[in-house]
Amino acid sequence: MVNVAVAGGTGGVGRTIIEVLDSSHHQGFTFSRKPAENQEQTPNQSFITADYTNIPNLVTTLETLEIHTVISTFAVKGDSLATSQANLIEAVKISKYTKRFIPSGFAISSLQTLPQPKDYFSALSTLQASNLEYAVFTNGIFLDYFAPPGCSILESYLKPNVFVIDIANRVAAIPGDGDVPVWPQQGEEGFRVVGHEISWNRFVRMGEDVLGSKFEVHYDSIEELKRFEIKELPGHQTLYAHFPKKAFQWFMSIFELFTADGNSCIKREGTLNELFPEIEPLTVRGMLEYWRDQ
Ligand SMILES: NC(=O)c1ccc[n+]([C@@H]2O[C@H](COP(=O)([O-])OP(=O)(O)OC[C@H]3O[C@@H](n4cnc5c(N)ncnc54)[C@H](OP(=O)(O)O)[C@@H]3O)[C@@H](O)[C@H]2O)c1
Repeated sequence: MVNVAVAGGTGGVGRTIIEVLDSSHHQGFTFSRKPAENQEQTPNQSFITADYTNIPNLVTTLETLEIHTVISTFAVKGDSLATSQANLIEAVKISKYTKRFIPSGFAISSLQTLPQPKDYFSALSTLQASNLEYAVFTNGIFLDYFAPPGCSILESYLKPNVFVIDIANRVAAIPGDGDVPVWPQQGEEGFRVVGHEISWNRFVRMGEDVLGSKFEVHYDSIEELKRFEIKELPGHQTLYAHFPKKAFQWFMSIFELFTADGNSCIKREGTLNELFPEIEPLTVRGMLEYWRDQ
C-alpha cells in the first residue's frame, strides 16, 4: 500500500483516478487549490489544499502525508503546467518519501501545435534529469465523449463534448479523409492504453450498423482544420455556454488534425493492455450498443 496524491483530483480525469484508488488497497489524496470545506467529500476521500506557488509548503505536505506517488491531472491551461506542475515536480524531487511522478497529459504525444507544449516537454526533461520514476500516459481520445447522455453504466466526470461524431443527431464532420486510425502511436517511454483503434469512417459505418439509421456525413479538409475551422455539429451549440464558439473551434480543429495525421498508426505491442489482460476496455461497438439499448 502506498499513499498517492492526485493533483487536480477534483477534475474530470483526476476524480476518476481518486475513485479507483479508493477501491484499491492504496490511499488516495485529492490535492486542490480550493479549501477542503468547499469540496464534495465521501468518507474515504482525503482533500488537501495545496498552494502550488509555494514549494517548501508542498514539500511539507508531501512529507507529512508520506506521499509515495504524485499523479498530476491538471487541466492543460494557463500556467497550470508552467507554474503549478513545475513547482510540484520540484517539491517531489525534494520530498524524502516521494518516488514517482506522472505528468498531466493523458492524451496523445503530438502536442506541438498547442501553446502549452513547451511546458509539457520541459516537465518531461526535468523528470528525465531527476532520480524520480516517471511515466507518461497516452490514451488517445477518451471514449467517454461518445457515451449516451445520462449513461449510468459509464461513470465519467469529463466535461461534455461532441467530438467529430454527433451520435445523438446522427451527424458527423470527419477530419481529413477519415480512413486514418484515430488512436496514434506513442513514444516508447509512455504507458499506452488502447480501448479500440478505429478510423472515423469505420466508426460511422459501425454506428449506422448498430443503430440502424443513416448518419449525415461531412468532411473537414486538412486546409480547413489548419485554418481552425470545423463544421458545426448540432450538439456543439449547447457547449458554447461554457466553451465559446471561436475558442472551441480552435481547440477542436487542432485535436481533429492530430487524428487526421497520415503518420498515425497504432502499436498495440507493449501496451498496458498486455500487462493487464484481465481488464477489458470498452470498445466503440460496446458504446454504440449502450446507445441502441438505452
Ligand atoms: N485524451 C482525452 O480525451 C482527454 C480528455 C480530457 C482531458 N484529458 C487530459 O487529462 C488531463 C486532465 O484534464 P481534465 O479535463 O480532467 O482537467 P479539468 O477537469 O479541466 O481540471 C483538472 C483540475 O486542474 C486543476 N487546475 C486547473 N488550473 C490549474 C492551475 N493553474 N494550477 C493548478 N491546478 C489547476 C483544478 O483543480 P482545483 O481547482 O481543485 O485546484 C481542476 O479541477 C489534462 O492533461 C488533459 O489534457 C485528456
